[in-house]
Amino acid sequence: EKGGFEHFMLKEIHEQPKAYRDTMRGRIDATGKRVILPELKLTHEQILNIRNIQIVACGTAYHAGLVGRNVIEQLVRIPVETDVASEYRYRSPIVTPETLVIVVSQSGETADTLAALREAKANGAHVLAITNVVGSSIARDADDVIATLAGPEIAVASTKAYTSQLIAFYLFGLYLAEVRGTQTPEAVTEIIQAMQELPEQLEGMLENSDSIKAYAEQIAHHEHLFFIGRGVDFAVAQEGSLKLKEISYIHSEAYPAGELKHGTLALIEEGIPVIALVTQESVYEKTVSNIKEVNARGADIMAITYEDHVSTLLKSVDQVFAIPKTLPLLTPALSVVPLQLLAYYASLARGNDVDKPRNLAKSVTVE
Ligand code: M6R
Repeated sequence: EKGGFEHFMLKEIHEQPKAYRDTMRGRIDATGKRVILPELKLTHEQILNIRNIQIVACGTAYHAGLVGRNVIEQLVRIPVETDVASEYRYRSPIVTPETLVIVVSQSGETADTLAALREAKANGAHVLAITNVVGSSIARDADDVIATLAGPEIAVASTKAYTSQLIAFYLFGLYLAEVRGTQTPEAVTEIIQAMQELPEQLEGMLENSDSIKAYAEQIAHHEHLFFIGRGVDFAVAQEGSLKLKEISYIHSEAYPAGELKHGTLALIEEGIPVIALVTQESVYEKTVSNIKEVNARGADIMAITYEDHVSTLLKSVDQVFAIPKTLPLLTPALSVVPLQLLAYYASLARGNDVDKPRNLAKSVTVE
């Protein structure tokens, strides 16, 4: 049942290239130039009328929603907010019939997300669910569903569900951009082509991940560490931090790289591990100066970046894990994978129950 892997989590990490292909299949037209989402009931007229988008989810699905916000705002220029479901409901969010609410849930049964969906519907919003379980309560109650086709996810720590949620956001963002005419056809084609390369790029990364295992064993005896990044790198940092906490029980915090000096830098001392995501060219120099700030305080830094930055970055960091080149918006679909493996191997090194971490359940059906 684990397909030759020691744990479901490792199996599911390795299933991600397939999940990418399955989630994209049939949703890109034969010319490779357009996204088609025949399952949507949302009309072009409704899409043209959208004034704001609210993305609501919990945990890892919330982190996918943070990337989704960047994707939609950049491609479509519609204001997007991403909220944790248990907060969303109680802040009386401003929802109108021109609001599109997107709920994201692997299981489709998360109580807070389901309650947020019902609340949004009661306020007149159109609700789109991105879910991995088509027969779930969330899929049933939503006005529209984009199914992620990741296959059953058994490990409590979510991996392939998260990355296929990212693919769903890329597809939906491109679809909105086409309908609203906010991107040139060339820009859309370029993104689609880069998306189609992701599965193979990921396969290559999974074959060359031994250095992550060694690094995980090195950090496994630490009690605190930090993840830093900017833009979508910060969103991925938050997911990396959650993954590590939930299965290795190592305390970590994800910080926007530029925010460290507003307080958290005080915690950086000799030997503390800092994992820096450095994939966004537009803020590359700024992130490097933040790396230098922690380097100067003796942190032990591991950077996740592109091959062409490795030699320069090695002047300020101790180790580097290179990811294949892709478009800036698409990097989360690759850069999160070393963090999933890091959490996995750190958990293993600590002798924890990887697939069933203490205190947690796969599906959270209480509010
Ligand atoms: O089934 P859902 O996607 O709605 O679940 C939401 C969270 O409970 C879930 O992502 C949780 O954070 C995972 N255990 C993280 O790995």
